[in-house]
Amino acid sequence: MIARATAALEAAIPRAQSDPARPIFHITAPAQWLNDPNGPIYYHGVYHLFYQLHPFSDGDGPKYWGHVRSRDLVKWEPLPIALWPSTEKGEVGVWSGCCTINGQGDPMIFYTSVFAGQSPQTHAEQWAAIGDKDLIVWDKYAANPVLSESLHGSRKIYDWRDPFVFRHRDRTFLVTGGNLNEAKGGQAAVNIYEAENSALTQWKYRGVLFQIPDPQARTAECPNFFKLGDHWVLFVSPYGKVQYYVGDFDADTCRFQAQTHGFLDCGPNFYAPNTMQLPDGRRIVWGWLNGFPGGHGWNGCLSLPRVLSLTEDGQLRQSPAPQLRALRGDAIAWRHPVLLSEGATFQLPHTNALEILAEMFLRTSDSVVLSFKNAASDSLPVVMRIDGSQFKMGDAEGRVSFTGTKRPLQLRIFIDRSVLEIFANDTLCATKIISPLDSDGTLQISCSNGAAELKRIEAWPVKTIW
Ligand code: FRU
Repeated sequence: MIARATAALEAAIPRAQSDPARPIFHITAPAQWLNDPNGPIYYHGVYHLFYQLHPFSDGDGPKYWGHVRSRDLVKWEPLPIALWPSTEKGEVGVWSGCCTINGQGDPMIFYTSVFAGQSPQTHAEQWAAIGDKDLIVWDKYAANPVLSESLHGSRKIYDWRDPFVFRHRDRTFLVTGGNLNEAKGGQAAVNIYEAENSALTQWKYRGVLFQIPDPQARTAECPNFFKLGDHWVLFVSPYGKVQYYVGDFDADTCRFQAQTHGFLDCGPNFYAPNTMQLPDGRRIVWGWLNGFPGGHGWNGCLSLPRVLSLTEDGQLRQSPAPQLRALRGDAIAWRHPVLLSEGATFQLPHTNALEILAEMFLRTSDSVVLSFKNAASDSLPVVMRIDGSQFKMGDAEGRVSFTGTKRPLQLRIFIDRSVLEIFANDTLCATKIISPLDSDGTLQISCSNGAAELKRIEAWPVKTIW
């Protein structure tokens, strides 16, 4: 089974890796289909990241766990497939989950197991696997499942999946996603369990941690729940834009009270994020970027690693991991201020894998428009605009937060062949799948009705992470 999967993956590599649209500094599978990031963990000085992989095609299908690792969050190394379905036990998919170290020092993966002939909507189990010290070889726990639906008594949870383990004081908890009322169109809810032994093989159901108040949220996939500064943060993927909630957690009652909420990315192509805590306490998230055209031997990549923090008013702040600066080549910089009412055009580095930093004061301007243009006049530019505080780029829309009357705007823009990822004042992120620029693209910036001023622009070619 695994030999066939590895052979199918390897056979697809030449086509996948020669595709000029394939990103070079976002994590991809060596070839074929990738979706959710799974089980990010820092262990023995190494960052490990797993991901949902369908090794047999560049379309969706039965899921395995792919694996990459890095010593510095900059350069990554692909590793053998970590987990595959135990078909002899009827398992057909190894779905999303997390990686942790149990109280006995064993690396453990928790994931959702789905079965032949059974809809994952109505039946799933949570399984565990134990890893070696390099997290390369995984043995499924002999007494799987570690959590089964019988824990819930008479309560039925649909789409029950995506375990995420967290520790609080000396206790270990696990949350899962799902929905409580399929008949009424779904009531998205996150359920919580508490470990009863240090091996993390016995769990007790502690009830519903949080019901997603948004009536449009039909389920809660891939919950992540963690402390950030003085607050607790919950991420859920509700078959739509990924939502975050910020609030407080009562560990005695196992209930979460949310005060603020928002979206991780204002575009439709970012989903199922997973987070990891660094040794210095900071937390990093990766999401799955989707929406690429099919038929190229690969499909899907992960977002850049984003460092998380909270603003004073409880908004989620995301900034590109500082380690990414190590990928920059020689800078092109414009440091003299320019008034934007006349419009300004900048020649970009001669590559379609680049980073741009633009800093401006929007002042009283009604709107600022940035467009990336190819030299070939027939290709459509990629346009983003900010009208007041409303950001728009294709179907990505959201609000940018400004502080101060000069309305300073900092844009970090990453263009990685067919992926465009933007951070605006670190409180708005937007991702878009684009047609790759050619290597003599320009950036044009203009403003209307006001005296917006460009303070500086810097741009760098970006090297590959492999
Ligand atoms: C989210 C998701 C998860 C599931 C996995 C299967 O994209 O649907 O809920 O575990 O993908 O690949």
